[in-house]
Amino acid sequence: MTNGAAAAVSHPNIAFIKYWGNRQDDLRLPANGSISMTLGGLLTRTSVRFDSQLEADQLTVNGQPASEEARLRVSAHLDYIRSLSRSAEYAVVESQSDFPSAAGLASSASAFASLTLAACAAASLELDPRDISRIARRGSGSACRSVFGGFVEAYTGETDLYGYAQQLAAPDHWDLVDWIVVSSQEPKQVGSSEGHRLAAASPLQATRVADTPRRLNLCRQAILGRDFAALASVVEQDSNLMHAVMLTSQPALMYWQPETVQLMQAIRRWREQGLSVCYTVDAGPNVHCLCRGEQAEQVVHQLESLVPEARLIRSGPGGPARLVTA
Ligand code: PMV
Repeated sequence: MTNGAAAAVSHPNIAFIKYWGNRQDDLRLPANGSISMTLGGLLTRTSVRFDSQLEADQLTVNGQPASEEARLRVSAHLDYIRSLSRSAEYAVVESQSDFPSAAGLASSASAFASLTLAACAAASLELDPRDISRIARRGSGSACRSVFGGFVEAYTGETDLYGYAQQLAAPDHWDLVDWIVVSSQEPKQVGSSEGHRLAAASPLQATRVADTPRRLNLCRQAILGRDFAALASVVEQDSNLMHAVMLTSQPALMYWQPETVQLMQAIRRWREQGLSVCYTVDAGPNVHCLCRGEQAEQVVHQLESLVPEARLIRSGPGGPARLVTA
């Protein structure tokens, strides 16, 4: 094989209906389906260059050599892509994100979506977005959703072949804004890979998983009908359900910080006062505050006066993962 190179960009996503726990850990086949919005305001760019002279894969993240743990995870992902292209060449991988990694901002989603697209192109594999989504899922479960733009649903997938995502609605379908309130940039203590493994230890997980089709349906209908009140109700319930599982795993995971709770309570209050706003929290302390585009400025004023120290990142629905010139 010739030395192939390619680069791709992709956005992280915020899950409205969250994936937590795997039915099969090695393949990252999710225990439940999920729905997200791709976050156009944040970007990861990943380049991949296969080189027959290399003796191992190399990885830099934001200009720094990555940890051995991260390099091995990327290398295992590339092994699968190499098995598809019947190649044994190692690669130089460079990944750059414009937002803090490992703080519950789904950096692994955009990292593995852009890595998968770039690596498959560099390996001259001709695959459709569904295949890219399926392969990205093997690197990070939520990455299968970042392959698509707008509003996206991921399926549980009985087998590896069926574990992929699909677009529900295009980015311009609904002018929603996610204000990400970055109150902590500390890397989280327990990463989501470990968290997924702990989920089954909570007695609440089976109930949460069994109820997921109902929440998926409510969320799908709310998005398609642009019904913010219905969306707010199911998004907050879903986030609380996932954190209830985390809090009752063994050992218990508590991602919330005092500001997380302060913000969740304030956002509920603002909604009671008439603002179209709701919260959702991933595997980290930072709150995502969702609102209608036309109320985004009103909402940011509220956030600024409540948490003046926090960094606020605005994001609307973004486009799909795409190749860029290397
Ligand atoms: O893709 P992972 O392994 O980082 O898991 C993502 C987990 C959550 O962000 C908490 C939920 C989700 O569906 O994105």
